[in-house]
Amino acid sequence: MTERPGGLAARYYTDGGVFAAEMDWVFARSWVMVGHASEVAEPGMVITARVGDESVLVANDAGQLRAMFNVCQHRGHELVTSETARLDRITCGYHAWTYGLDGRLLHARGEDVGDVCVPRVRLETLAGFLFVNLSAESAGLAATAPGVQDGLLARVPDAPRRVLSARLTHEMRANWKVVVENYNECYHCPNVHKWFTSGVVAPGSYRIASGGSVIRHAAEVPSQPPAWTRTGDVETSGAGQGAVAGTRSGSGDGGGAGDGYEAYFVWPASAIQCYPGQVVNTFRWVPLAVDRTLLIREWWFDTADLTEAQSRLVSDDWENTVAEDFGIVESVQRGVASRGYTPGPLIEDPSGVCGVHSENSVRHLQHLLLASLGAAV
Ligand code: FES
Ligand SMILES: [Fe+2]
Repeated sequence: MTERPGGLAARYYTDGGVFAAEMDWVFARSWVMVGHASEVAEPGMVITARVGDESVLVANDAGQLRAMFNVCQHRGHELVTSETARLDRITCGYHAWTYGLDGRLLHARGEDVGDVCVPRVRLETLAGFLFVNLSAESAGLAATAPGVQDGLLARVPDAPRRVLSARLTHEMRANWKVVVENYNECYHCPNVHKWFTSGVVAPGSYRIASGGSVIRHAAEVPSQPPAWTRTGDVETSGAGQGAVAGTRSGSGDGGGAGDGYEAYFVWPASAIQCYPGQVVNTFRWVPLAVDRTLLIREWWFDTADLTEAQSRLVSDDWENTVAEDFGIVESVQRGVASRGYTPGPLIEDPSGVCGVHSENSVRHLQHLLLASLGAAV
């Protein structure tokens, strides 16, 4: 009989001490997606986002993008309490200390408190998407996620100019690793995701390649191409009817299905997906507690307003593929917390080819976690 090592011990999904260590050793030292450059395209535009257990803000300071901890240097109130803002300067809502968009304190209501600056955070872009890293020591984004930007731009050249067209969120009662492991394996796809495996990808062609911090998913379109890519509809997409080209102009092969499906997961909790037809969407998973994770699912088209067909795709995806996983991950979370659970074997293809019959990528994620945690837990 083949020796099949099991997965992570259950405590990695249930122990608050492990979760606290992950905030320090994973989320405070990794590149985490917080949005897209188009959300801060103009001077004064500000977004906030959670990175592990921290809040960060990204501001357009007279054309220069700055990322910093979202924390007032007086007594710790959050500087910006909304998801987006348009500001000339940042005034704390507690005692009204006021900062420039570069994070420098401008005034403390007339008191001289010396030079004060909100600690900055590293910020880099990847095909237009904004990533931050709280650690000064980590490798740069390009070195951490090699090939991802080139891969995305080859598939969707205008990705840096896309805008936020839809955002859907859902809080799951599951550990973030249960959710991320589920996302990164398609062993469950034929059993769980009928719409995805019949309408978006040809399951037999699904391949998952894990390397370093990146897990790349790719698949061909099904024999009956996805409804939103069918020829003839593309030209009408600008009128709000027909297919969902990523760009309404439907230029060149941009609206076709021939480009298949491709997704890049960047450890620990971000993914950028290209559906057939240059449709770009993203996942961000925010760990809220050892057994709670917030999903932020966003769609990036060329205008903020969805066409009818785009709107249908967004809701079909949510109601089918995404929602199908909610029940799965919450059930797994209850299961790993059970006295009746010991980690079962992972099904690994020894050739390294990971498709809909194997879970090599789950093993890879677990290696990444253990390497990050070291002796911390
Ligand atoms: S905590 Fe911000 S001004 Fe006091
Ligand atoms: Fe799934």
